[in-house]
Amino acid sequence: MKIAIIYISKYGTTAKVAQMIAGRLISNQVSIIDLKKDRHPDFHSYDGIILGTSIYAGNSSKMMQRFCKQNFETLMQKRLALFVCGMEQDSAKQQQELANAYPQMLYQHAASTCFVGGEFQFEKMNFFERAIIKRIAKTDKSVSQIKEDGIEKLVMEYQKNNRSEKGIKSKIK
Ligand SMILES: Cc1cc2nc3c(=O)[nH]c(=O)nc-3n(C[C@H](O)[C@H](O)[C@H](O)COP(=O)(O)O)c2cc1C
Repeated sequence: MKIAIIYISKYGTTAKVAQMIAGRLISNQVSIIDLKKDRHPDFHSYDGIILGTSIYAGNSSKMMQRFCKQNFETLMQKRLALFVCGMEQDSAKQQQELANAYPQMLYQHAASTCFVGGEFQFEKMNFFERAIIKRIAKTDKSVSQIKEDGIEKLVMEYQKNNRSEKGIKSKIK
């Protein structure tokens, strides 16, 4: 199966997760596409699509939202997985961020979905971001909380049965 991982990342964490997913897929035809560099990728020839975005102030990237809207019909015809990177600690809120990040019908269509955690990279943040994170997360230290087990499950579910009918869908918590 030919798979494209299409992502958007501000400081590189979602890009890193895209690489981690690619390394776990059983396919020798995996492309990783950065939406910032290629805003209108031609992904029609791919059988499977995995979308990834990070979350800022509760929202997914505008560029990813636009991409999903513009390519909705085509995405609905692909085997789909969706993930988000974020540092929200509350699991109910993580699931909400994940569900809100993509159009509802794409979310329901996806064979697997996952909130895969994220990173605070203070050295890359601007002054305001640093101040916000210090206040909200009560830390000023860079930290990585990428959930490798979540990534494993996302990939396992995605490759299982290799179909996307409603009955076999499973949402990863
Ligand atoms: C200013 C700011 C706001 C953030 N807001 C959220 C948020 O609302 N929810 C969340 O889960 N993570 C939030 N995060 C964490 C980012 O999603 C996390 O750092 C992620 O790994 C960034 O990935 P990227 O480098 O691919 O953009 C925030 C981070 C920053 C710096």
